[in-house]
Amino acid sequence: MTFEELIPAPARAEGRGPHGEGFVLDASTLLDASPGTESTERWLRSALGAALGLPLAPGVQGSAVALRIDDALAPEAYRLAVAEGGVEIRGGAASGVFWGAQTLRQLLGPEAFRRAPIGSGRQWTLPLGVIEDAPRFRWRGMMLDVSRHFMPKDGVLRYLDLLAAHKLNVFHFHLTDDQGWRIEIKRHPKLSEVGSWRPRSKWGHRASELWNETPHGGHYTQDDIREIVAYADALHIAVVPEIDIPGHSQAAIAAYPELGNTDVVDTSSLGVWDTWGVNPNVLAPTEETLRFYEGVFEEVLELFPSTFIHVGGDECPKDQWKQSPTAQARIKELGVGDEDGLQSWFIRHFDKWLSARGRRLIGWDEILEGGLAEGATVSSWRGYGGGIAAAKAGHDVVMCPEQQVYLDHRQHGGADEPAPIGYVRTLEDVYRFEPLPPELTEDERGHVLGTQANVWTEVMEYHARVDYQVFPRLAAFAEVAWSALPDPAERDFADFERRMTSHYMRLDALGVDYRPPGGPLPWQRRPGVLGRPIDGSPPNV
Ligand code: ACM
Repeated sequence: MTFEELIPAPARAEGRGPHGEGFVLDASTLLDASPGTESTERWLRSALGAALGLPLAPGVQGSAVALRIDDALAPEAYRLAVAEGGVEIRGGAASGVFWGAQTLRQLLGPEAFRRAPIGSGRQWTLPLGVIEDAPRFRWRGMMLDVSRHFMPKDGVLRYLDLLAAHKLNVFHFHLTDDQGWRIEIKRHPKLSEVGSWRPRSKWGHRASELWNETPHGGHYTQDDIREIVAYADALHIAVVPEIDIPGHSQAAIAAYPELGNTDVVDTSSLGVWDTWGVNPNVLAPTEETLRFYEGVFEEVLELFPSTFIHVGGDECPKDQWKQSPTAQARIKELGVGDEDGLQSWFIRHFDKWLSARGRRLIGWDEILEGGLAEGATVSSWRGYGGGIAAAKAGHDVVMCPEQQVYLDHRQHGGADEPAPIGYVRTLEDVYRFEPLPPELTEDERGHVLGTQANVWTEVMEYHARVDYQVFPRLAAFAEVAWSALPDPAERDFADFERRMTSHYMRLDALGVDYRPPGGPLPWQRRPGVLGRPIDGSPPNV
């Protein structure tokens, strides 16, 4: 491999020496890790060492890969220097060193992405030269919806590895929704006992008339969550949990009917939702609901050290609150004006509650309706508009517009796409996504923490479907989030595609079931009637 095959592209790379020469990693190569670089030392030994079949033992005498913290660099920046006598990775902080190690793995070739060596006698040669690199954005995220379809823990751990391989550093974990509650809450055990199972599921798109009659469910125990968070931490990935309020709550209401608007609907007969779309059953705006969710968030805070805690806030239909005498009385009593004010009241409450505990609230852009809570950060999903409004009002923003970076949306208009929903967003479209809209001034741009790709799983019944939707587009997204690319029209997509030739080999070695450039392989197609195109379908299904 050469310096010209990296994804995401580094800021500066300068190769040195005649082609074919380099530093060889072998059984005598040592790892010389300074204090503060232990996470990278462990990763190099366990992940890279396993792939290479080398011990990468600790030591300073002899040729070594040296890991150093360098205060002169920005925290996530790194400098990777490969010389005849050894390798040095300097990072501004532990995370920078780790991103440098990820680059080092790419330089060793696709076999370095396996879990064990294949064959024997392979020489592991690093090309000579220097790479200096730093991320464009500090929030480089992917959201995974494990509610619509549960992803067992091993799949989540694997996704964390895949994010790290692309230098992404935020995993937004969408843990609750109408179709399933996926996290154990000790105070309220029925959330996972009852709320994590549904008897059947809509098969495919919500307009489909077919049902999968197999019960679907699963949840993470608190120990599973601790393991996921610790694993992510070692990969320098922050896990941002999402507990969705006051909409997308039918699974919680199925478990605890008193959470719903019992004066307008018989919530005791609600099950966990079995179809897709926007659900009318939202939380009742009562003090009891607040206390219940404070209990939930208390356990969430114990499990997740992340500064940001996501409270959802999206797609909360107001019909039940309009009909409910209790909700109407609350509007008067609280003096919040209308139903939007009630939504805002929920979010403001948890904004204060989280701030008092040293955390920060983040929510989908509907939290702007009825007035944005003081400390809130906005995930701008319905386009750029919410993010622009929030940044102009001095709030932080994560740009994740569905028109550009919803990876559940199809990547080709063809009839054999396995998840034929939403906008067509090709690999090139994602590559030309620009997180910073021209409407923002330089100062306002400072409020854009970064960007995130979102993956909703209604039509992804199992892991391979997720892989297919996410890859290769996540590679393009990672380059947008990390690399200082020119304006969209000037981006060199042909060069990105050229580098993807190497990257597909890395994804093959990792066992990723990506969409090949020529379209789905026979087993990736959706069988039967579901293979028909659903043209003109609404975008968010
Ligand atoms: C969303 O896509 N409902 C945030």
